[in-house]
Amino acid sequence: MSISVQGITKSFADKGQKKERKLVLKDVSFEVKDGEFVSLVGPSGCGKTTTLTIIAGFQKADSGQVLVDGAPVSKPGPDRAFVFQNYALLPWLKVGDNIMYPMKKQGIPKAEREKRLKELLSIAQMEDNANSYIYELSGGMKQRVAILRGLACDPKILLMDEPLGAVDFQMRKLLQIQMEAMLQQRKVTTMMVTHDVDEAIYFSDRVIVMSRDHGRIMADVQIDLPRPRDRTGLRYHEYMDQLTEILKQALNGEVFNEEDKDLMQFIENVETGADLHEGRTILGTDKSTSAPKKERRNILRRNRQCHDMNDKL
Ligand SMILES: Nc1ncnc2c1ncn2[C@@H]1O[C@H](COP(=O)(O)OP(=O)(O)OP(=O)(O)O)[C@@H](O)[C@H]1O
Ligand SMILES: [Mg+2]
Repeated sequence: MSISVQGITKSFADKGQKKERKLVLKDVSFEVKDGEFVSLVGPSGCGKTTTLTIIAGFQKADSGQVLVDGAPVSKPGPDRAFVFQNYALLPWLKVGDNIMYPMKKQGIPKAEREKRLKELLSIAQMEDNANSYIYELSGGMKQRVAILRGLACDPKILLMDEPLGAVDFQMRKLLQIQMEAMLQQRKVTTMMVTHDVDEAIYFSDRVIVMSRDHGRIMADVQIDLPRPRDRTGLRYHEYMDQLTEILKQALNGEVFNEEDKDLMQFIENVETGADLHEGRTILGTDKSTSAPKKERRNILRRNRQCHDMNDKL
């Protein structure tokens, strides 16, 4: 299914100034083709989640419209699944029941639910966890369950808001590899919000960069690389450099919160070639954008370790 976002504008009541409204999105437009994977990146507060939730039908734009396969979106529907950053799992239910919950709500018969559950668990290599309770799972496992639940009703569109935002670096790399394999088996149209440029390049056919200037789209970059993506390739790193530079412009030196700090950190690490995991650089110092891209070997080595770890699992 295709998505067409046509000139959406969205404002919210401004808590500070009661008469004013805070304009978040102004005339934002883009297209996502059937089967495409598009990532949305940008500084904190630029309107990524707002955009995604309007596509999901959770809230309405003030003006403009979203079309899914040519039909206007007015409310949520089973054609669009949404994966939340904080999993939104039901902690009192077992893994299997969590994944089957949306199928049950849709009236899918029990035998069919159980058949699909088996298939989904095997995609995520979680066959042995159907009867585990959510509180027994690691963060990475919870995240996989949340994605499986999203896929359960065979959505035509998968909308994911920072699906790997809550897991640590090593687990994140592993999950990316596993998630990519899962998604390759189900060719759904996907939009993902992420703060991680590397993650965006790893998954996406296109990366859209939004700015704080009312969600204005600063860049829409086609990632023309074969799958699965080779993080050690030169072109991969050229995309990293290109998108990092655009994000830096989008951030414009304004760091408002932890997410922005992370983004700033990422930019500095790419520029200095510091290790993405351990290299903690000091924020706020004036660094040249043309800093030598040295020590890439560190990043490449760590990525190779992640691939090796995944092979061993
Ligand atoms: N329901 C709401 N009421 C008032 N303001 C809102 C509401 N939802 C979002 N906003 C504001 O709209 C702006 C954009 O929010 P949004 O959550 O879309 O940003 P984001 O790009 O997803 O940020 P982050 O990267 O931090 O998740 C923010 O300033 C936010 O405070
Ligand atoms: Mg958000």
